[in-house]
Amino acid sequence: MSGRVYLIGAGPGAPDLLTLRAVGILRRADVVFHDALVHTETLALAAGAEKIPVGKRSGRRSTAQKFINKRLIDAARRHAVVVRLKGGDPMLFGRAQEEIDALRRAGVDFEIVPGVTAASAAAAELGVSLTRRGLSRHVVFVTPRAAEGERGNDWATSVLAADTAVLYMGAGLADAISTELIGRGKPADTPIALVENASLPGRRVLFGTLTELPALAQATKGGPTLVLFGEVLRSALELQHRPASAEDIEDLLKRA
Ligand SMILES: C[S@@+](CC[C@H](N)C(=O)[O-])C[C@H]1O[C@@H](n2cnc3c(N)ncnc32)[C@H](O)[C@@H]1O
Repeated sequence: MSGRVYLIGAGPGAPDLLTLRAVGILRRADVVFHDALVHTETLALAAGAEKIPVGKRSGRRSTAQKFINKRLIDAARRHAVVVRLKGGDPMLFGRAQEEIDALRRAGVDFEIVPGVTAASAAAAELGVSLTRRGLSRHVVFVTPRAAEGERGNDWATSVLAADTAVLYMGAGLADAISTELIGRGKPADTPIALVENASLPGRRVLFGTLTELPALAQATKGGPTLVLFGEVLRSALELQHRPASAEDIEDLLKRA
């Protein structure tokens, strides 16, 4: 038998942010290889499938990528519907290309189902558009992380050049990031936001400036977090930092 492998984006966490296509495939899945942070309700959609965790969270033990590739190929030889369920969108920071290349080499049929990437979910949490007429026409998605043996990427140049930058897997490197960016000329008062657990009940949004990045990162609680930089965040930051007006206080009292 030669089945098909579906690389599916599970979205940022909330099960109702899955695409209808993803739900349909999960319902007929025979086996699901899933990332660490996939929601239990999302996995429950694959009621008839064997579920195999192969997740990676940086700094913790994970299944080696080559072994995952092999398992996908072996599973496709035994099952009709094999799902590789990845957080967010599978084609962003998810090593999808290594899986695609291995499947192609082995002659295994595959299909990609896009998902909502964390940056989109974070923008929704913030209520801030990543692009804005006259202010932001250039958005980058970047990570300062490099795999072992991989040449370091020049993430800072990308952040410096962009109107809006979204940093994946970067909150744990907050000290180094703010030192590097300020050292290379990024204004210390650049507005930033940290969004933790976007779309999930434990969601958290923190606004500040580039100098405050290390302190804000310390205040997160270990959930997946994005760091966003750019002038598009300034009005939200100022709104948060301005002193409460008489109307705000009246409004709060009414709602209490
Ligand atoms: C390995 S990358 C995978 C990204 C994923 N493919 C995507 O499109 O969102 C994992 C990183 O994505 C970010 N991330 C994933 N889910 C998130 C969420 N719900 N809230 C905030 N950041 C999230 C964090 O920076 C985390 O370290």
